[in-house]
Amino acid sequence: MCAELLELRGIGKAFPGVVALAGVDFTVRAGEIHALLGENGAGKSTLIKVLTGVHPADAGEIRLNGAVIRPGAPKEAERLGVSTVYQEVNLVPSLSVAENITLGRQPGRFGFLNWRAIRRRARAALARLEVECDVDAELGSLSVARQQMVAIARALDTSARLLVLDEPTASLDEKEVAELFGLMRKLRAEGMGIVFVTHFLDQVYTVSDRLTVLRNGQLVGEYVTADLSRLELVGKMLGREVSDADFTSHVAAPAATMQPVLAARGLGRRGAIAPVDLALHAGEVAGLGGLLGSGRTETARLLFGIDACDSGEISLKGATVRVASPRDAVRLGLAFCSEDRKAEGILPNLSVRENLLVALQGKRGALRALSPAEQVQLCEHYIKTLRIKTADTETPIKNLSGGNQQKVLLARWLATQPAVIILDEPTRGIDIGAKQEIEQLIAKLRADGLAVLFISSEIDEVVRNCSRVLVLRERRLTGEIAGAEITSERLMHLMAGTHE
Ligand SMILES: Nc1ncnc2c1ncn2[C@@H]1O[C@H](COP(=O)(O)OP(=O)(O)OP(=O)(O)O)[C@@H](O)[C@H]1O
Ligand SMILES: [Mg+2]
Repeated sequence: MCAELLELRGIGKAFPGVVALAGVDFTVRAGEIHALLGENGAGKSTLIKVLTGVHPADAGEIRLNGAVIRPGAPKEAERLGVSTVYQEVNLVPSLSVAENITLGRQPGRFGFLNWRAIRRRARAALARLEVECDVDAELGSLSVARQQMVAIARALDTSARLLVLDEPTASLDEKEVAELFGLMRKLRAEGMGIVFVTHFLDQVYTVSDRLTVLRNGQLVGEYVTADLSRLELVGKMLGREVSDADFTSHVAAPAATMQPVLAARGLGRRGAIAPVDLALHAGEVAGLGGLLGSGRTETARLLFGIDACDSGEISLKGATVRVASPRDAVRLGLAFCSEDRKAEGILPNLSVRENLLVALQGKRGALRALSPAEQVQLCEHYIKTLRIKTADTETPIKNLSGGNQQKVLLARWLATQPAVIILDEPTRGIDIGAKQEIEQLIAKLRADGLAVLFISSEIDEVVRNCSRVLVLRERRLTGEIAGAEITSERLMHLMAGTHE
């Protein structure tokens, strides 16, 4: 009944040392939400970039409404009706929301910008998404989630027939995801075709009509979502049989009542987080639970010296310490794997090796630089342990898939051999196989005696991994649960501030 809106046939794309896509077919109908799935590095983003003219294909054909198209650049694809929000949001943090939404297509005449029209257009684009947001605010001052909404508003600014969303929900909270889904359904009803890349299987089943699975650059198959069970789907993505046992808990034993490795007393910063007391013990995984905006990341930033506290103190193994900068923190044996991979994380033009070793080199200082042989050996160790998919240690990190970049960041901090590691959304954008591996790795870090502070928006993940959870709500610490008390339901109530 539905027309084929988009047809990709036999798409091939190789990069030096990697075949990213080999003979891939992909079809999207008008009026459907089509999920594009696969492990990190499977080729999802590359397929999208071929479609939108970021990369020329080595082979194959693209048809939109039956006519062959060969977009040479994203702008051209946009003109043809294909609008895209890329995985790595490419907006300008120092410009306003309005400027970002209209960037490159600002209304104006004779070289003068028409600010009223710019603001009006931006407001309309946000209103369509039902996002309330000051269009004059500097983009960089917004949360990652908000910035993502602005990126989507930007993509919808043109009259799109096909909307491509590459992991748009990675940094949205539940309410924002629901809003986005409402919008996707509305656009579907208007006859738009929507391509949706995600690693959240719940979302696949909630919102998609059909799905396509890629593995190692090859098409595994196309399915009607409702016809495929979750286990079957995971099996197709991983290329092996999967059983329920793969999804069981790694819950650690409750921490012993020994002296904490890291303790904070009355640590706070006005406007960010009300004074909190917390303690982390060697060999425990403590969770920091809370909704987006509850103050989780803010707390982590204070502990790591990124933001200055205006009250309280931090002690390490019983001795009060000064953590005035991340440099102090690293020297003291702290590590912080940040949620914002783009802004605080990767150095896009440097190699995997350089990205992986910056924190360790910083800690050792220029005088004790690692020899080239040591560097390569260390990198190869982490590439193997974390199964990082890269051609070699010298590949620029920007060439890695999003999930593999995340793994390099994690490796960067593990390489410093910290006593305390803060993991802020460590599995964001990571596929289900790698997620399991990272969870196993966390369990191993705990067994090796590290103190782990684990921040995640995924409640199940917190329940599976933590032996104790501190709950934040509206920028204050509101509760703590441990051991068998940690259930998804209990946690949800505490986070939302509702009664059980
Ligand atoms: N510009 C590039 N140069 C070299 N190799 C690249 C480039 N872009 C992608 N690749 C490689 O192509 C393969 C597919 O990457 P792609 O980004 O399409 O994966 P993905 O399915 O989107 O993964 P993720 O879920 O992690 O985002 C990976 O091995 C990646 O390293
Ligand atoms: Mg990708």
